[in-house]
Amino acid sequence: MSVLAIDAGTTGVTALVVDGAGGIAARGYQEFPQHFPRPGWVEHEPEEIWLATISACKAAIDGARAADVPAPTAIGITNQRETVVLWDRRTLRAPRRAIVWQDRRTADICAEFSDAGHGARVGELTGLRLDPYFSATKLTWLARNEPDTWRGVTEGRLVVGTVDAYLVARLTGGQVLATEVSNASRTLLYDTFGGGWSAELCELFGVPEIALPEVVGSSGVLGHTDPGEFLGLTLPVAGIAGDQQAALFGQACFDTGATKCTYGTGSFVLTNTGDTPVRSEHGLLTTIAWDLGDGPVYALEGSIFVTGAAVQWLRDGLGIIGAAAEIEGLAATVPDTHGVVFVPALTGLGAPYWDPSARGTILGLTRGTTRAHLARATLAAIAYEVRDVLTVMAAELAGDDRPTAEVIPELSVDGGASANSLLCQLQADQLALPVRRPRVTETTGLGAAFLAGLATGVWSSTDELARTWQLDARFTPSGRTDEDGYRLWRVAVDRARDWPA
Ligand code: G3P
Repeated sequence: MSVLAIDAGTTGVTALVVDGAGGIAARGYQEFPQHFPRPGWVEHEPEEIWLATISACKAAIDGARAADVPAPTAIGITNQRETVVLWDRRTLRAPRRAIVWQDRRTADICAEFSDAGHGARVGELTGLRLDPYFSATKLTWLARNEPDTWRGVTEGRLVVGTVDAYLVARLTGGQVLATEVSNASRTLLYDTFGGGWSAELCELFGVPEIALPEVVGSSGVLGHTDPGEFLGLTLPVAGIAGDQQAALFGQACFDTGATKCTYGTGSFVLTNTGDTPVRSEHGLLTTIAWDLGDGPVYALEGSIFVTGAAVQWLRDGLGIIGAAAEIEGLAATVPDTHGVVFVPALTGLGAPYWDPSARGTILGLTRGTTRAHLARATLAAIAYEVRDVLTVMAAELAGDDRPTAEVIPELSVDGGASANSLLCQLQADQLALPVRRPRVTETTGLGAAFLAGLATGVWSSTDELARTWQLDARFTPSGRTDEDGYRLWRVAVDRARDWPA
């Protein structure tokens, strides 16, 4: 038996055929265009996401067939979160492009709500914060700035949803209008603690509740693909989760305290807090990890916006590496950063600082500085950013008097940059914690496959899923936490903040 996982990420769609042993039997990938209509704005064309989905799935299914892997019997979906899509209930056409999680156009709207004193109540209901990152203010912006389109929403012709709901609608030919609970918990419209869309928040942000999809659990058959729309196949859509929650599931972080970091464009650290939501006082988010039918499992999350994107900037902006993977070799040619510190606040700072006005900052340059030092400083920055989040996380889970290692004994890593062993070692050193890398590092897709396979009998329990997890490498702390480097990092973060532009 096998499961098809669709991972609709920010820059492209990956499709995986996952076999019963939890291995990747075949894959497909299709990038789609990014649209930047103005500085700080990021949009995606929903039709392009859909076409990329079809193309990635076709490649994965063809690959599985060629390798004689049993055909998938269910579909799992995982997706970039917070991004808002509008589509017509009947034709499934989108009247405008999706506004992406990275888009900062609603910074002023967030400030306005915050100045009006809504921040605390929004946090109390959602576990999130008033930041352009989340979905709701993107919809407020649309209502204010595109009244003709918005009329379609208020009159009930258009649906507003996250990417999971859009893909469910397209896959089922419009038969199912549903969104999954971990995705809903990222919108600023969902009551994370009480459950259900919040009438109070819908009113605050001006979003009519009738335009929102029904919220469903993370594992269970929602409907079937329409063969006329989806490669001639009728398959149950049986599992969904937002990509970071899916990665937590794919890493088999089923127990309280189990923690993962996915290194992608940004890096997202999530720790499982079980059926007890932990509210953050210091810049983390409370989020729903998944609901398997017996109530929500919660996570505490630190969302770091720019990590892999900083490596891309070294490649595309500075041209000091030719490919992202070259950073490891280049950084390893020098023993340290030579005093250089890089704060990659290229789209402001996320957790735990939340400063949209911060700017990327490089300090400590001398005539002896080389591109290798900058490469090493970039890897160090990723490790420092994750350390900042983990430190707050451990303190919030246990109080300041218990060491990190007691509440978070180890960190499981995944995502593209987890292949970089130098980064993994720097991370273990910075955290003074073991870092473990699984054999399958595409854990977002894996998590979606697990959720769908649990619902359709491919796997019978989370215990069985946990047994499929296989270690690739374990990085133990060397004892060199480089406190001088970390002190400089904190100075540099302060300098990067409150940029007066
Ligand atoms: O919250 C944003 C996150 O879901 C994006 O993930 O991997 O598509 O950059 P990714």
